[in-house]
Amino acid sequence: MALLSIYRGDITILSVDVIVNAANSTLLGGGGVDGAIHRAAGPDLLTECRTLGGCKTGDAKLTKGYNLPSKFIIHTVGPIWQGGSHHEPELLASCYRNSLALAESIHAASIAFPAISCGIYGYPIEEAVGIAVDAVRDWISSHSEPKEIIFVCFDNKTAEHYHTTLAI
Ligand code: APR
Repeated sequence: MALLSIYRGDITILSVDVIVNAANSTLLGGGGVDGAIHRAAGPDLLTECRTLGGCKTGDAKLTKGYNLPSKFIIHTVGPIWQGGSHHEPELLASCYRNSLALAESIHAASIAFPAISCGIYGYPIEEAVGIAVDAVRDWISSHSEPKEIIFVCFDNKTAEHYHTTLAI
């Protein structure tokens, strides 16, 4: 069974096989964690992203990690919160599921997720954390890879929600 953990801090410094980026559909960079990852990875990341043809909400695409300590980046596009009646929960869950499936396909042992959609995209944090944890627990109930899954929290409020939801 995979090890689940919470890390309070900056995802770009983690030496894991994969970090997940909360991107937008262009995959050409932005603010928030997307901006931090592109800054830390360097310009070659954008060059590779330009070859990917964008990404649909809920889907996930893989690039190298370049100057990051992580070997790879999985870019996923979370739903913009519109009140909850535009399939936001299903789309957010598919971000986690598709990212885990892509990580499994490259036999990644470790993966770190930011709180997808919880910043600029405005997803209510409590609901988003519940969806993230449910999607990950559902995955690990029937898959052996990745072996380590880290929930990265950039602020204390997010970390408290993950601690409460995961009961760790
Ligand atoms: N490390 C870890 N988490 C971070 C970091 C970081 N360096 N920077 C921000 N975060 C956190 C935010 O605090 C939030 O909890 O990542 C979570 C997701 O927030 P955003 O980065 O704003 O992503 P999201 O809400 O999914 O919005 C995506 O924002 O950056 C643009 O191009 C991106 O258009 C897309 C949109």
